[in-house]
Amino acid sequence: MTVATVLTFGRHALEHTSDSPSLDAELLLAHACRTDRTSLLIELHQGIDDDGRQRFQNLIAQRQHGTPIAYLTGRQEFFGRPFVVTPDVLIPRPATELLIETVLSTNLPEHLSVVDVGTGSGMIALTLAAERPAWRIQATDTSAAALQVAHANAGQLGLSQVRWIHHALLDGVDRPVDLIVANLPYLRPDQVSSLAGHEPTQALAGGVDGLDVIRPCILAASALMPLGLVLEIDPSQAPAVRALMAECLPTYRTTTNNDGRAVRVMAAWKNINR
Ligand SMILES: C[S@@+](CC[C@H](N)C(=O)[O-])C[C@H]1O[C@@H](n2cnc3c(N)ncnc32)[C@H](O)[C@@H]1O
Repeated sequence: MTVATVLTFGRHALEHTSDSPSLDAELLLAHACRTDRTSLLIELHQGIDDDGRQRFQNLIAQRQHGTPIAYLTGRQEFFGRPFVVTPDVLIPRPATELLIETVLSTNLPEHLSVVDVGTGSGMIALTLAAERPAWRIQATDTSAAALQVAHANAGQLGLSQVRWIHHALLDGVDRPVDLIVANLPYLRPDQVSSLAGHEPTQALAGGVDGLDVIRPCILAASALMPLGLVLEIDPSQAPAVRALMAECLPTYRTTTNNDGRAVRVMAAWKNINR
C-alpha cells in the first residue's frame, strides 16, 4: 500500500470525528512512519511497511475516540518551538502566544526576575528563557508530573536556566520577583465538561466562576509588588479580573491585548510605559 492509499483510508476514517481529517491523517501517518509531514507528502507513491501501517491504524482508532493529535504525536509547536506534551499537561494553545507577545512587546529592563505560575509543559517559561536569555526565570506547578514534562522540554531545547518549583502559586520562589506571568486553570464547570476526558482537570477547572486559582494568584502577586503581572483569562472574566487587579494592585495600570480581539490577556503594570 502506498502513502496516498493509506492517507485516503485515514481521511475517510476520521471524516465524522475530526474537523481536519486530511491534516490529522497526514500528521498521524508521518508520526507512524517516524518522518515529518513534508517528507511524507513528497513520497506519495512510496510503499508503507506493515509495522508503519499497524501503528497508523492504532493511532487512527485513538483519534476516532477523540484523543487530541498532540497527545498522539507527543508534540505541539508553541511560538515556533517544538514542545513535548503528554496527557499530564495542557496542550499549548495559540491564545497563550498573545501572553508571550504582550511580555516581549513591553518595555522591560534587560535583567529581570520572572515567575511563570502554573507552568504545565513549561512552554511560557522556556519561551521567555529562549527569547530573553538574560532573564532569571522560575516556574511553579502543583503537578509533579507536569514539572517532569517541563524538565524534559528544557533538556530538549537546551535551556537549563529555568528553576522548576513544585509548589502552589508563588510559594517557594526566590525574591525579588519583577514579573509574574500565568496561564492558570480558568474554566467554569460548563466549559470544562465540553472539553472533558483528555486534558488534565487540574489544568482546566477554575471553580464556579473560573477564578478559584486566579483570585489567590493576584493576591499573592500583590505581596511581592512586581513590575508587572500578566494573566491569560477567559474573555468573560475581564471585568472581574480588572476589578481584582484594581483592588489588590491599586496603583498599577491595567492593560489588555489591544488587537481588537476578545480580551485574552490582562496585565497590571507598575511605572511601565507600554
Ligand atoms: C491551564 S494549565 C496551563 C499550563 C501552561 N502554563 C500553559 O499555558 O499551557 C494550568 C496549570 O496550572 C497548574 N496549577 C493548577 N493550580 C495551581 C496552583 N494553585 N499553583 C500552581 N500551579 C497550579 C496545573 O497543574 C496546570 O499545569
